[in-house]
Amino acid sequence: MTTNDRHFERLLSARARIGWGGPVGTQRPTSNALYEFGGGFPDPESFPYEGMIEATKVMMKEEGAAAMTYGEPLGYKGLRELACHKYELFEGLKVSPENIIIANGSGHALSLAFSAFLDPGDTMISEVPAFSGTLVTLRRHGPRILGVPIDDEGIVTAAVRERLEQCRREGTPCKLIYTIVNFQNPAGPTQSLRRRHELVALATEFDTLILEDDAYGELRFDGEMLPSLYALDTHNRVIRAGTLSKILGAGVRLGWLLAPKPMIPAFQGFLFGGGVNPYVSRVATYFMRDHMAGHVARLVGVYRAKRDAMLKGLWEVLTGTDVRISKPEGGFFIWIKLPSGTNTAKLLQLAVDARVQYTPGTNFYPNGGGEDHIRLAFSYEPPEKCYEGGRAMGRCILAAR
Ligand SMILES: Cc1ncc(COP(=O)(O)O)c(C=O)c1O
Repeated sequence: MTTNDRHFERLLSARARIGWGGPVGTQRPTSNALYEFGGGFPDPESFPYEGMIEATKVMMKEEGAAAMTYGEPLGYKGLRELACHKYELFEGLKVSPENIIIANGSGHALSLAFSAFLDPGDTMISEVPAFSGTLVTLRRHGPRILGVPIDDEGIVTAAVRERLEQCRREGTPCKLIYTIVNFQNPAGPTQSLRRRHELVALATEFDTLILEDDAYGELRFDGEMLPSLYALDTHNRVIRAGTLSKILGAGVRLGWLLAPKPMIPAFQGFLFGGGVNPYVSRVATYFMRDHMAGHVARLVGVYRAKRDAMLKGLWEVLTGTDVRISKPEGGFFIWIKLPSGTNTAKLLQLAVDARVQYTPGTNFYPNGGGEDHIRLAFSYEPPEKCYEGGRAMGRCILAAR
């Protein structure tokens, strides 16, 4: 018998071997943060503790037995209806629960979409930079990722067209286009209406699909909400991922895909059955169905104050350099292009010493790049710490030149 703890590796499936040995999560500098600006963690003080206790009590009285057994394969209908209610409330978009499948957070929902459409070696397009969690999941699906840049209007559709034409010349179908439309993670821009129309038209022209990731849409601090790609699409080309993580709590692990109805079985096939989390789905639904508008309005104020505090701290220290700092209209993140001449290895060490957690830009680039960028999440810490920590990070950046 072998005592080698890696003896299982030769038995791994072909699927598990893809990306084996690579990172299994986003890489960050410190495990001992005083200022936690690394992950997109929601504000713990805004969690509706009492509301969730009350919702659990009411739900258990009304339907305890149903909550404690296997649920519907697409997920608890009440939660699918709640997602429809959310789309109607914030966007005036009418969709049916039959177009929704519940997943274990939108990260899982994205993974279901990748599993349904990507074989190893398949070609897809992703905007770059893009959410590191998606890239980690994507790597394990083994596609060739063609990156296209983003600018202030989001994904550059002219570059998408070039890539799609490249696929056509090569005779390789582009399986899907991944994009984060609102307050892009990490870089912050919101896709303009013009680009949204262009992207949807490109998907139809080149016979491909769009995976629209929208984890933050309701958390808009400034400006007006734009119609989603899903809403603009008239040819069943768009799959949209949504989540309760940012408007209720990431611990409920509830998200979904909204998709054309005939596509839903393609995702369902990757779930075991019994629905995802029927119990927690009910608790979340019982709370949110009565509190959605008020709770989200409160969160918008909370996160706006944090964004402003962090920007203030950063600019107080970094004004006068050639730094570029995003000002997102919503969401959780600030994206920084470091001043020229910044030594990123030194910056990493200085941030570890100052106990400022951040995410290095390289995490957001599937094919290399991003060394001159970092992402800060203002979502978790209270405004005072966003301000102080913004100053502390600014000082690290200055000292790293
Ligand atoms: C753009 C984006 N998509 C998806 C997710 C996944 O979130 P969850 O799985 O908690 O719904 C996140 C989380 O940070 C995100 O920023």
